[in-house]
Amino acid sequence: MLGYKYKITAAGRINIIGEHIDYCGGKVLPAALSLKNTVYIRPNGTDKINISWTTLPDTVCLDINRLGSYTGLKYGNYQAGSAFVWQRAGHKIIGCDMLQDCSVPFGSGLSSSAAIEVSTIAALAAVANEEFDRVDVALKAQQAEREYMGVNCGIMDQYASACGKKDNAILLDCKTLERQYIPVSLNGYSLVIINSKKPHALASSKYNERRAETEEALKILQKHVKIDCLADMSPDEFERWCGVLGGTIRNRARHVVSECERVRLAAAAMKAGNMEELGALLNQSHESLSKLYEVTGSEVDALVHAAQIHPACAGSRMTGGGFGGCTISLVETAAAEDFKSFVLKKYERETGYMAECYDADISDGITVKEL
Ligand code: GLA
Repeated sequence: MLGYKYKITAAGRINIIGEHIDYCGGKVLPAALSLKNTVYIRPNGTDKINISWTTLPDTVCLDINRLGSYTGLKYGNYQAGSAFVWQRAGHKIIGCDMLQDCSVPFGSGLSSSAAIEVSTIAALAAVANEEFDRVDVALKAQQAEREYMGVNCGIMDQYASACGKKDNAILLDCKTLERQYIPVSLNGYSLVIINSKKPHALASSKYNERRAETEEALKILQKHVKIDCLADMSPDEFERWCGVLGGTIRNRARHVVSECERVRLAAAAMKAGNMEELGALLNQSHESLSKLYEVTGSEVDALVHAAQIHPACAGSRMTGGGFGGCTISLVETAAAEDFKSFVLKKYERETGYMAECYDADISDGITVKEL
């Protein structure tokens, strides 16, 4: 892009399995996507950050001495929040022009917000000639999302966006932040991403509500068992103690404990190339998110069920925070086109929404290029 000094990208992500457990200390299995946010940046010698977008006519000007005061912006609040948190952590912010170009669809559960936050921080560091640590960038981006955007999120999205690796999923332990890359070689199968196109209304308040419910469950269980987080409990131990929890809270906690177990089994199935097993685990994960955790909604359920009845589909589930957004399905590669047209038609007939498929690869997290 003419006149800019650096091109920085950070990725959107899918989560293969391990949903709504990152904030309970669980292990998750996300992968970064080739859908990403790109920031072109150059210093401008002022004390202002000028933001423009490839897809919007608006421009926004942020004063680097007042970065805490932009929470009410229609556009540019993610960038402002990211810059604010980075600056507060002691990093130098210099005046710059940045052009933002996002190919992650918004509100789709593919973490456009994490891609924007992570790439913005990496770009601000690059333009100030500062080396950065990817995990540190992810943690600051998460803080921006929590404090500036008011979503009490876990670390999964920002971590995957920053630390993703081409053709690999990340088995991320959200308690210790240790990771292991697992090659995504799916033995003749592909992961098909489909957007339900159901706008996720109230998603952030419901998200915060779920998180509070798991915290309540933990507090009650800790009176009886020595655990630091819900992910510390085995399914057997949970069955022994779950009677102390009331109905709804018990369902939420049961989802968390069982999903942690499914991640363990899914990582093993992926390593062994056992797609039937991986698919069955995706189906179980969705069922649990729908019935116990109640974060799917009727449209996403319809999309997943349409996928699950196709003969070439080993399994399907919602991915991301839920309440609308995207699903992933494990489908025989040779039948993927037939699968897509079958699912899209059935889904439209049942819900009236036109779903959309994305052709995305599993890709790297942050990239920095000097132009
Ligand atoms: C959102 C959050 C993540 C995670 C997922 C659910 O994407 O940002 O931290 O909790 O929902 O797994």
